[in-house]
Amino acid sequence: MKIAVGSDHAGVEFKKTVTDWLEKNGYEFNDMGPYNEDSVDYPDYARKVGKAVAEGEYDSGILLCGTGIGVSISANKIKGIRAAVACNPEFAILARQHNNANIICFAARFTDKATIEKSLHNWFTTEFEGGRHERRVNKIEPCC
Ligand code: RB5
Repeated sequence: MKIAVGSDHAGVEFKKTVTDWLEKNGYEFNDMGPYNEDSVDYPDYARKVGKAVAEGEYDSGILLCGTGIGVSISANKIKGIRAAVACNPEFAILARQHNNANIICFAARFTDKATIEKSLHNWFTTEFEGGRHERRVNKIEPCC
């Protein structure tokens, strides 16, 4: 399983929590930047990660910004991407079970290490439920 990781400047600190967790748990990943806390624009990094996942180069993605909102809105502009903000570990389960999200986003300014680690655990150990959720997910398409 190959994971693409990215953030903006606000997410750099907790991105280390993410990459440490991925390393410890044996996941192959690519940190697509940024690599310091100089101010950057979150759509640039969300697009890098989103495109890499949409094109099948990576199995899923992890994005962080201050709220998780900017990176999720940006990544969701890419066809085939379902990026969900996980505010807590339960959201991480439901984002996979019900929405089959392929990118999980974290709110770096409103979270903590334990929440991120538990959310990652849940994200990687939960399966898409399919059934009625598959019908709904199939209806998520650009429409106008
Ligand atoms: C950066 O200051 C902040 O706007 C960004 O990290 C994010 O929260 C945007 O949604």
